Amino acid sequence: MSYNTVVIVGLSWGDEGKGKYCDYLAQKADIVVRYQGGANAGHTVVCDGQKYKFKLIPSGAVWEKEVVIANGCVLDPEVLFEEIENLEHLGKNINLKISSTAHIVFPFHKKLDGLQEEHKEDYKAGTTKRGIGPTYSDKSARYGIRVFDLLNPDILEKKLKNLFEIKKKIISIYNGNWEYQFDELFQRYVDYGKRIKKYVIDTAYYLNKQIEAEKKIIFEGAQGTLLSLDHGMYPYGTSSSANALGVCAGAGISPKKISKIIGVFKAYTSRVGDGPLPTELTNQIGNIIREQGHEYGTVTNRPRRVGWLDLFNIKYSILINGVDYLFISLLDALEGISPLKICTHYKLNGDTLESWPLQSEIIEKCEPVYLTLDGWEKRSQEEWLDIAKKGYDMLPENMKTYIETIERELNHKISAISIGPERNATIQLQEIF
Ligand code: GDP
Ligand code: IMO
Ligand code: MG
Repeated sequence: MSYNTVVIVGLSWGDEGKGKYCDYLAQKADIVVRYQGGANAGHTVVCDGQKYKFKLIPSGAVWEKEVVIANGCVLDPEVLFEEIENLEHLGKNINLKISSTAHIVFPFHKKLDGLQEEHKEDYKAGTTKRGIGPTYSDKSARYGIRVFDLLNPDILEKKLKNLFEIKKKIISIYNGNWEYQFDELFQRYVDYGKRIKKYVIDTAYYLNKQIEAEKKIIFEGAQGTLLSLDHGMYPYGTSSSANALGVCAGAGISPKKISKIIGVFKAYTSRVGDGPLPTELTNQIGNIIREQGHEYGTVTNRPRRVGWLDLFNIKYSILINGVDYLFISLLDALEGISPLKICTHYKLNGDTLESWPLQSEIIEKCEPVYLTLDGWEKRSQEEWLDIAKKGYDMLPENMKTYIETIERELNHKISAISIGPERNATIQLQEIF
């Protein structure tokens, strides 16, 4: 049986342009699914001058496609309804399905997120404070509250009372203020339950049926491979499998039902949050890239750390995810900078490393080894858009050399190229659907 399922996954530290490419491909898709993470994601889509920022709702919503928040996500109802309202305000019809088994984020999870960070000292990741870690912790500890519970006040009351007491104790250990009233919180979440009810189904069953009916489905990753709980740079990452491996558990899909895996990466490196970043540029070049790429967090507005493209970690991510297709974004943001550098591998104590080390304490000591290439001239956004319309041959010669160097080093073709935030500033070299 042939399936039409595509996974879009970030190959580095998040913000690679997953939202942009997901929107680009969604035109031809039937369903777009988020399978992990929560409102820590910030996916930006720009089309016809309109900017959409998604935290929870899959980027397919711009095309008014069917969008699914699957069981592997953690759901903050407050953010969800805010997003729904924003989309409706922009005149969008929302066709949303939510898993009955996704876990719910409560205000005390967000509070705990901040308190725990304060106690992690050198090992804090600089979280988005969206309650992601504490909600996934409750899921693993098996006292989490799920969407289904919100629809059933009797069950919710019992579970929330229990969780309330546990969290009160934990927050007091961190010397935090307990600022919640049970009755108020319970009622607020019962009300969310009433509003959420119409969207709730068994998404795993539904998606399997849709896959078997050969519907075109995109699984939109959030965060990035290097931020993954497993196979990322622990503890400086997030609390879910922000890679293609997470699709199976996060959406209830057998590995046999995944057809294609697309890896998305930037023409340079960016990272919001803490932890080692071997190719980081803390100089004027870094500032220029940050401004040209508008590298400020979508969720928290924090300035993102930037650095040269690190192919050593991209190679690792291609391997872990089993990437079939590559999408490179933000090539235009390197305009006017010359020479450019690309890291191909790391050295540790004079030895060349064979694979990307997963221990932050080792990465800190590594020395990136670079290739040096010539850059290209600045252009206006309209000029980049025009070049994208005309196709690959019209790219600046040095940009083509940059792309071809990456392909050679990765031993992997690049399937799509992005030279601007707009949907149409995209050059698709290989068909996906
Ligand atoms: P995501 O989290 O992977 O979806 O990425 P974000 O949306 O957080 O960050 C990517 C940022 O780069 C957004 O502001 C996009 O609008 C923007 N973007 C995406 N592709 C391009 C591109 O090719 N060029 C430029 N200049 N901006 C881009
Ligand atoms: P998208 O989907 C970039 C980072 C945070 C922090 C670490 C843990 O837009 O690519 P968390 O709040 O998840 O507990 O934070 O992960 N982080 C992201 N960085 N893009 C994201 O999402 C991120 N989501 C989390 O900065 O270092
Ligand atoms: Mg983002």
